[in-house]
Amino acid sequence: MPNQYKIGQGKSFAVNNLTKIYTSNKQLDFTASLLQQVFKKRMNIQLPVTHSPSADATIRLIIDPTIKGNETYKLTVTAHGLTIYGSSSIAIQDGIMTTDQLLLGDAFASSRHQIAPITISDKPRFARRILMLDPARHFLSVKDIKFYIDQMIKYKFNALQLHLTDDQGWRVEIKGYPKLTAGGPFYTQEELKDLCNYAALRNVEIIPELDVPGHTVSILSAYPELACTVNDTIPKIIGTTTDMMLCCSQQEVYSFYKVIISQVCALFPSPYIHLGGDEAAISKNWAKCERCQALMKEKGYSNPAQLMIPFFDKILSYVRDAGKKAILWCELNNIYAPADDYLFPYPKDVMLVSWRNGLTPTCIDITKRYGNTLILAPGEYAYFDYPQMKGDLPEYNNWGMPITTLKKSYEFDPGYGLPADRYNHVDGVMGTLWGEAIIDINRALYMTYPRAFALSEAGWTDMEHRNWNSFRQRLYPNLLDLIKCGVSVRAPFEIAKDN
Ligand code: ACM
Ligand code: ZN
Repeated sequence: MPNQYKIGQGKSFAVNNLTKIYTSNKQLDFTASLLQQVFKKRMNIQLPVTHSPSADATIRLIIDPTIKGNETYKLTVTAHGLTIYGSSSIAIQDGIMTTDQLLLGDAFASSRHQIAPITISDKPRFARRILMLDPARHFLSVKDIKFYIDQMIKYKFNALQLHLTDDQGWRVEIKGYPKLTAGGPFYTQEELKDLCNYAALRNVEIIPELDVPGHTVSILSAYPELACTVNDTIPKIIGTTTDMMLCCSQQEVYSFYKVIISQVCALFPSPYIHLGGDEAAISKNWAKCERCQALMKEKGYSNPAQLMIPFFDKILSYVRDAGKKAILWCELNNIYAPADDYLFPYPKDVMLVSWRNGLTPTCIDITKRYGNTLILAPGEYAYFDYPQMKGDLPEYNNWGMPITTLKKSYEFDPGYGLPADRYNHVDGVMGTLWGEAIIDINRALYMTYPRAFALSEAGWTDMEHRNWNSFRQRLYPNLLDLIKCGVSVRAPFEIAKDN
């Protein structure tokens, strides 16, 4: 739902065989091709793209650098044409996707090549709207991920996080360390470059994630010497071993990750790299390791969690050396409320992600206090690996996950009703598709849609323009449309009784 619109007066814009799409700028050619696809799909008409203004070039995509805001766009439809203004190609793309929604929502007029007059002035509530896939748990091909991107851009998601390493697999080629990926499958660096280019053309930022210091059995099974001494003699078997960590006090861990981080940072154009930091089983590793215990004494620490300080000091220095910023999952001093501080002092230049059920309001307050930026992925609204109804998928590897209904996802207000200055450090929202139970791309899509529609609107639209009944109406044409595109969606039958 756009943030500001006014239904126009007068005649509709009639698209005909002579209509052309004018773009002010060659840099918009790919974006213009997305609009061509919209007209092909909604009106079954093939419109040419031109760079010269002419009487028939009545659909116009105009870069206007004076417009403030990277994704602010203005869309006007009058009897004379359709124009999208924005300061960047992503703003124009946002306007194109809104055009697609208009044509989809008025299918009868679209079939007659008519578009009703309207003026839309729109911009997102939050800068980043992210979805996260987890090919570490169940591998997804590059082709599958491209298909996923094709769908997410329709709803103005602008970033995709890829969880590339975990206990179950290491999915990114690292030159010089072939043992990491010997268990396969994995993405070559060439494949990832191709994927990043594909995403960039569609204005999607791919954020790579390498999870440390926990969730590291895949690297430890290839290089057991990187684990703590307590685990020296314990076999590290993918699919069986869990709860192991990189040793905080083993110099090779750092020389290794220096190389890994520099290669991964060079590969992905995003200014960010996510380095995990979640669910570190400190009491089973660092608290029992001879080397880590000696380091604790040397540092005068009373709590082994304080070893996160020197660990991330080093790891984050490699990120800074690569000219990037780090993201970490936010861990507090308790995994349930009440929690009143960080697990350890996160440096200010780290962006955090709140995720644990019920702790997002606390994370918003604590990050505000310490000056960290924050992404919101609250388990209770945005963990899309959770089932959508009791008894629904996933049937496999379901560890007793809580239920997140579509309606619950829609109730997410990333501002939690707070005054704006209490959450102006929130950079965005993220929906996660943890892959333990998501065996392939069709399952990933089934878990994503329709709940990602709700998250999209939570990330884009101000609360005053959001409404469950309006959302329910707008949902159905979009669900049908995704089905036509070959997307395995879940039919939200339970909301029909709300009628
Ligand atoms: C997480 O769900 N372990 C961030
Ligand atoms: Zn250790």
